[in-house]
Amino acid sequence: MKQIQQRTLIAEEQIQNAFRRGRKFIEVKPGTIVTAQAQDTAARLKIKLLENPPERAAVVRTSGSTATRRVLYRNNPSWEPPSRPVARKRQTIEKLVLIGVGGVGANLAHLAANASIANEICLIDVLPGAAEAVALDLQHASGITRSGTMLSGSTSLKSIAQAQVVVVTAGRPRTPGMDRSDLSQINGRIIRTIGESIADLASDSVVITVTNPVEEMTKLMLQTTGFPRKRVIGMAGTLDSARFRQSIASAAEVAVTDVQAITLGSHGDEMVPLASRALIQERPILEFLSESAIESCRAETVQGGASVVNLRKTGSATLAPAHATLEILEYMTGARVGIVPVSVQLSGEYGLDSMVIGVPCRLSMSGVYEIVELKLEAEELAFLQKAARAVRTRMEANWHGFNERLERRKIREDRLLQQSETRGTFCLCGRYDSHRKKRETACTAWYLCPELVYFRENPRVSAPSRCGVASCR
Ligand code: LAC
Repeated sequence: MKQIQQRTLIAEEQIQNAFRRGRKFIEVKPGTIVTAQAQDTAARLKIKLLENPPERAAVVRTSGSTATRRVLYRNNPSWEPPSRPVARKRQTIEKLVLIGVGGVGANLAHLAANASIANEICLIDVLPGAAEAVALDLQHASGITRSGTMLSGSTSLKSIAQAQVVVVTAGRPRTPGMDRSDLSQINGRIIRTIGESIADLASDSVVITVTNPVEEMTKLMLQTTGFPRKRVIGMAGTLDSARFRQSIASAAEVAVTDVQAITLGSHGDEMVPLASRALIQERPILEFLSESAIESCRAETVQGGASVVNLRKTGSATLAPAHATLEILEYMTGARVGIVPVSVQLSGEYGLDSMVIGVPCRLSMSGVYEIVELKLEAEELAFLQKAARAVRTRMEANWHGFNERLERRKIREDRLLQQSETRGTFCLCGRYDSHRKKRETACTAWYLCPELVYFRENPRVSAPSRCGVASCR
């Protein structure tokens, strides 16, 4: 009888399963495909991929079902016992604040309430009644959805207080003919105001910036709040990756659940859809699509947002961005596990420094806990670096106060503060606002002023204080 050799595939998930089961090696049978991501993960988790497995004792013959299970276990790397507990427990956000209740904010509130991602969701919008209306509407819906999430609406940024996670969608959307970066000035001012309130009222929160242009706004948020980089995340990669997967699925005429693909880089023309790592049913997309079809998927992904703007005319997409933001929250809470692309400030990763750009990360309730450095193809890495340079150029052009030297000093100060034994020797004027000359001069005072007072890091002092330096407001 002719023997059919079955080709199996080892993907990242199988490596992680093997790691959870405490296995030190995985057998790679002839003809088995090991994905590049699986190889990276195996190297990281120190799991050997053995092409010549060691000899073992013959399997003792037992009843049919046990023997079948053993055979499955040995032959199929994806086999897992059905009732294994999940390693990470799912958590619930205590207070989620959504600032901006336009299309994205309102849809996100709806999805988050139904997903029971938070015990309390507070909506804030400058337009009187807008946030309150959505909160009330969702409260009514809970009579059907049975969502137990507490909802409230407000026009005041004071409602940020005690937030564990803040999602900022506030700002102007694009209209036809506009580039995301055209919104930089107007939305930047909004982000600054919100960032200052977040720093004052929810200094331990994690901030997710959705407002466009995402990378610039994330950077401004980082500067304004003075938060460590792991607590300021930009939402773009999850949205662009969703569009990329959908585009591949439709080109290859397969279910979108069969497609794995992510994008990195910026949320704009310099986006980097990683075609080299994209898989359909765990196999490289090149086995299904021609180079030109893949190129069209890339272009469709880059143009995804603009296509919606051109159809809608008065604004941009709302549903996919809301789902993409919820996805980040789910990774944070542990409802989803694995790697997710988000915009974060880099510090040497991918050869980039002090720049916010989309890269694959692992998230937790305290923000980014690992930036995953994939082995990118030379061309993809070059594109990623080009994207970062483009973001920096735009930042410098749009924000005259943006200055790399001051930025570096701020990072140094951040580190010093974290390392400092006398944590919290910080005065009000020492807030990291390097954009305003006056405060910037005073900012150095925190090194020098003998009367520095504790706040912010010191739980015993609840309000900021003056340090005695004349320019301390
Ligand atoms: C988009 C906007 C939200 O890509 O940036 O649809």
